[in-house]
Amino acid sequence: MPWNARVSPELRGNWLRKMIYSIELKIIHSDILNIQLSEKADILVSEWLGPFGVAENLLYRLLATRDRWLRVGGKMLPERVTAWMAPAFDPVLDSDMFFWQSRPFGLNLEPIAQHTANEIRYSQQHLGPENLLDTPKPMWSTDLYAFTTEDAKRPFRSSQSFVCGRESLMNSVVVWFDAEFAGGILLACGPGAARNHWGSTVCPLERPVQTGPGTEIRIDFACEVDDTPGRSFSNWSVWVEGQLMERHNTRDSIY
Ligand SMILES: C[S@@+](CC[C@H](N)C(=O)[O-])C[C@H]1O[C@@H](n2cnc3c(N)ncnc32)[C@H](O)[C@@H]1O
Repeated sequence: MPWNARVSPELRGNWLRKMIYSIELKIIHSDILNIQLSEKADILVSEWLGPFGVAENLLYRLLATRDRWLRVGGKMLPERVTAWMAPAFDPVLDSDMFFWQSRPFGLNLEPIAQHTANEIRYSQQHLGPENLLDTPKPMWSTDLYAFTTEDAKRPFRSSQSFVCGRESLMNSVVVWFDAEFAGGILLACGPGAARNHWGSTVCPLERPVQTGPGTEIRIDFACEVDDTPGRSFSNWSVWVEGQLMERHNTRDSIY
């Protein structure tokens, strides 16, 4: 079946259904690094994506499996994953922070706001382009055929500059990924994309920053994977007009 946009969704669906029902599934309960197969694989399909491509610390294991078990010319699904960032105003975060900072019931709950600002909100939020202060920029792009296992263990870093297009508060850095599959199929998760399981991920600021048309914003973002499977730590710094506003690190979060 030619897997392109000219094939109707019905035809694709019928073909997929037939294919899936004819497949004999064998489930191997094992760390993927320890699997033994009788022959090399034609396709390696994996949902290793996390909120922005690398935070679930699965990439190294996936690529080591590729090097060991994918036949020459075999297919990776997805083939390329690009992580994006943009400065944003998230009204849900604003309302949460306001609550912790407003002495609810006469209690000082500021420490919760401080901890919240070091926690990435993996809340699969569905923000729109209207929440962004400038056009998104790519953080990094991972070619699943060419990326090396050594690089998968190094920190993923990006520094990008933005110019605010309008008057707005900024209270977050929003990050997400787009995944590309063969045949031009794109799984897009950013603000404005069709709703799906992933959506946008919000890295908070403790206090909103007032910006206006022409305000220069720089964001430094890094994700460091750990030797512990599944674990990673991220940090983000926001500079406005050359001045550091806030720096946060998930290492400083409550857990
Ligand atoms: C993001 S989840 C995707 C789960 C499932 N495919 C889905 O879409 O709901 C990643 C999966 O990888 C599995 N995983 C993590 N490390 C693994 C490893 N070393 N070997 C095999 N599987 C692993 C996790 O248990 C988890 O089920």
